[in-house]
Formats: sequence, C-alpha cells, structure tokens
Amino acid sequence: MTDKHAAAPDEMAPRRNFYGRRHGRPLRDSRKKLMESLLPRITVTVTPGKVIDPASLFPAPLKEYWLEIGFGGGEHLAAQAGAHRDVGLIGCEIFLNGIASALSHIEAEALENVRIYPEDVRDLLPALKPQSFDKIFLLFPDPWHKARHASRRFVNQANLDIVASLLKPGAEFRIGSDDPVYIGWALAHTTRHPSFKWLAEKSSDWLVRPDDWPPSRYEQKAIRQGRVPHYFRFERV
Ligand SMILES: C[S@@+](CC[C@H](N)C(=O)[O-])C[C@H]1O[C@@H](n2cnc3c(N)ncnc32)[C@H](O)[C@@H]1O
Repeated sequence: MTDKHAAAPDEMAPRRNFYGRRHGRPLRDSRKKLMESLLPRITVTVTPGKVIDPASLFPAPLKEYWLEIGFGGGEHLAAQAGAHRDVGLIGCEIFLNGIASALSHIEAEALENVRIYPEDVRDLLPALKPQSFDKIFLLFPDPWHKARHASRRFVNQANLDIVASLLKPGAEFRIGSDDPVYIGWALAHTTRHPSFKWLAEKSSDWLVRPDDWPPSRYEQKAIRQGRVPHYFRFERV
C-alpha cells in the first residue's frame, strides 16, 4: 500500500475546485424518494485513512469489479450491471439529477450489483484499494475544450497514475469522447503513459462502439447532433 492510497482526502493538498454542475431542474417526487431511500443503501462512503476494497461493498464476493467515472444519467452503468450481474459496479457522479436517473434504472431493473459514489470522484479514487478493478470507464468526460481550461480535464498525468494503480495487470481502461480537442488530448496522454497500451487493431477501430460497450446519453446526443464519437480501449500493462 502506498502512502498516496492511505492518505485521507482531507490530508491531500490542495482541495481541488469543481467546475461542473451539481444540480439541474427540481427532481420529481418519485426520484426524490429514491434519493432518500435507495441512495443511502448503496452509497460508497470515504472515511479518512480507510482503504476501500470494492469487494467489501457487496454482501458476497463477485467475479470482477468495474468502476465508472462520471456516469451521467447512468444508462451505460445500468446496462453493464444488468448484462453482468456477477460483476460489482461502482458508479461515480456528482450531478444530482444524473444520480437520481441512475437510481431509477437501478430500481426498475432490480440491480443489486451497483454502488454509487455521489460526490467528486477525485476524492474516492485515492481511497480505493490498488489493483482491485478489472475495468474502468471514462465516457464522454466534460471536454473543457478551451486551452485555458485544460487543467480541468479529467485526463492528466496524475489521474492516469491513479487509474493505472487501481487496475489489475491486463485490465481495461475505456475512454469515449466526441470532442476533437479532448480526443487528441486523451490519446496523447494515455499513449505516452507507461502503464497503458492502446488496444487499436486497425485504423477504424475507434470509430465503432464495441458490442460490449452499451450506449450512453452523451454519446447518443453527440450522434444526433452530427458529432463523431470515438471509443478507446487501453490495456493496463
Ligand atoms: C459530459 S457528461 C457524460 C456523462 C456520461 N458518461 C455519458 O456518456 O452520458 C460528464 C459527467 O461527468 C460528471 N463529472 C464531471 N466531473 C466529475 C467529478 N469530479 N466527479 C464526479 N462526476 C463528475 C458530470 O457531472 C457529468 O455528468
């Protein structure tokens, strides 16, 4: 266990700013109820100094553990959880309305294998047990395409170091994006990172969503609006 992983969030300096949205329209009553009843039962809590083993979040051991960063409305998270009931999924999202939407999928599809971190994912990542995940998804992250906002992008050296440390050897990191600036940025950072190998077999691979990669809301919106989603798979070497 490295010191970095044992560190409690409040020991990590400095506290980072969050630039996205936390709230949208008022929630309808059924979703408010889910936030009050279902969310507390499946929330992942970060406790200073305590390492979180994903296996400890579920009543019985599961085959694998997967992590989704910024799941938006939870469409991909729920589809993966429904298709792989023997896998434990941790979904992270800070936008309240997105969390409520994911809860409605979790309830409707009786998904027992999902846990939610409803805060800034950057506080959770250092608390998670190293080498405990088989897949990590970062789908259509906020692109912050202006150069002066580049420091807000999730993909950077430090976050890639943490993502690499959480994946088992041979495990997979997936990034989706429709933003030309972010695509170039993410690819440049990930391909020059020593822990990741890009799993592109031919030059058109990244334009076709793999069969085991369910659509997400932003991906569908991008397609409707004429943008071209790109799908990247990296192996943790
Ligand atoms: C552009 S949306 C994409 C959502 C979803 N992955 C999809 O493809 O439909 C990016 C999401 O990441 C979430 N997000 C951004 N920064 C975050 C953070 N630090 N912690 C948790 N969620 C974050 C945002 O709230 C937003 O819902």
